[in-house]
Amino acid sequence: MPEGTRRTYAIAVIPGDGIGPEVIRAAAPVLERAAEGQGASLQWEWLPYGADHCLRTGETLPAEAFERLRDHADAIFLGALGDERIPDNRHARDILLGLRVRLDLFINFRPCRLLHPDLCPLKPALGRTEAGAEPSARPIDFVIFRENTEGVYLGRGRSERVGTAEEIQVAEEVHSAPKVTRIVRAAFDWARDHGRGLVTMSDKANVVPAHQLWQRVFDAIGAGYTAIEREHRYIDALCMELVRNPERFQVIVTNNAYGDILSDLGAQLVGGLGLAASANLHPGRPGLFEPVHGSAPPLAGRNLANPMAAILTGALMLEALGLDDAARAVEAAVTETLACGVTTPDLGGRAGTDEVARSIAAAVSGR
Ligand code: NAD
Ligand code: IPM
Ligand code: MN
Repeated sequence: MPEGTRRTYAIAVIPGDGIGPEVIRAAAPVLERAAEGQGASLQWEWLPYGADHCLRTGETLPAEAFERLRDHADAIFLGALGDERIPDNRHARDILLGLRVRLDLFINFRPCRLLHPDLCPLKPALGRTEAGAEPSARPIDFVIFRENTEGVYLGRGRSERVGTAEEIQVAEEVHSAPKVTRIVRAAFDWARDHGRGLVTMSDKANVVPAHQLWQRVFDAIGAGYTAIEREHRYIDALCMELVRNPERFQVIVTNNAYGDILSDLGAQLVGGLGLAASANLHPGRPGLFEPVHGSAPPLAGRNLANPMAAILTGALMLEALGLDDAARAVEAAVTETLACGVTTPDLGGRAGTDEVARSIAAAVSGR
């Protein structure tokens, strides 16, 4: 691309707590290199928000920082938030949940794709190719569309007689037709645009009457997508079926809390939290990109954290910025590094965070 037409993207970075800063530091050069390969550059603005900042200053996400993120970032890249010195997790609530809701990033998009057969912990070895194993018709490859702006996550409810033996806590779940409709529609649209033929919706409508709204909306919206099959699974049965036969799933749409839980289950089916990427999206607007994992305090500062989840999250960010080739290059480089066995201890390897990231960066350049 000739000089002068090179597009620069403003990326606001919130490394956060625990392993957040180290996985983000490891990921940034990989993403820069991939973007450069597609004639673009990434301009990072590193922001201090997280537990240390909160404890030092008392602020979680100041109003002007929120406005800057809202008005000036092409994307937000976040490591992880969570620190035992803040037991009520208020900084994560304000920063992570706050950004999801205040920016109305209603789609929490969490892909679960098996990048190497040995990463699946299930037996018999679904999707594996060793001698004697039935080659699977389809590898494990599904995405979770998690509703990201309501459900039990709004934190509504009330407390009574706190601290007494009669304490009662009431947590309300909110499900509104417009918000259920838009996430269900997003799941079907994505299935249609990516050649997937099945969308599964999960709830607990047999016990929680409010979830019947999901069933009505799912049927009404799904009926408009005649080429896509739809099915319903109660959340308990879905968990079972995901372990029994994960390859059959393609797109799963569900509420905020069930999507959170399913995304850790889905992550482990394909290798664990060290590999699980996530994007918070509102089509047409800048998104917020964060690995599924948390701050993993026992690993922090030890060069043990797997940076692949952050790097694959970066690939989702590149894709959202329109840098599809760069995104594919990052994914291919991660797959190649896994195949070479350059992995952190969570995947059975002996490499450090930095070595894994360097190997992925080299694979990006070699493409
Ligand atoms: P966690 O994801 O931090 O860790 C769960 C397990 O996965 C641990 O065994 C950890 O060692 C392992 N793990 C996670 N990421 C890894 C990586 N990149 N490489 C290797 N191993 C990895 O979840 P937790 O222990 O339940 O929570 C710790 C803190 O993180 C809590 O404060 C929690 O609220 C917070 N949290 C934050 C986010 C987020 O910011 N998006 C997500 C989940 C949890
Ligand atoms: C996630 C996390 C968050 C959530 C927590 C840290 C608030 O578990 O992103 O999956 O529950 O959404
Ligand atoms: Mn979670």
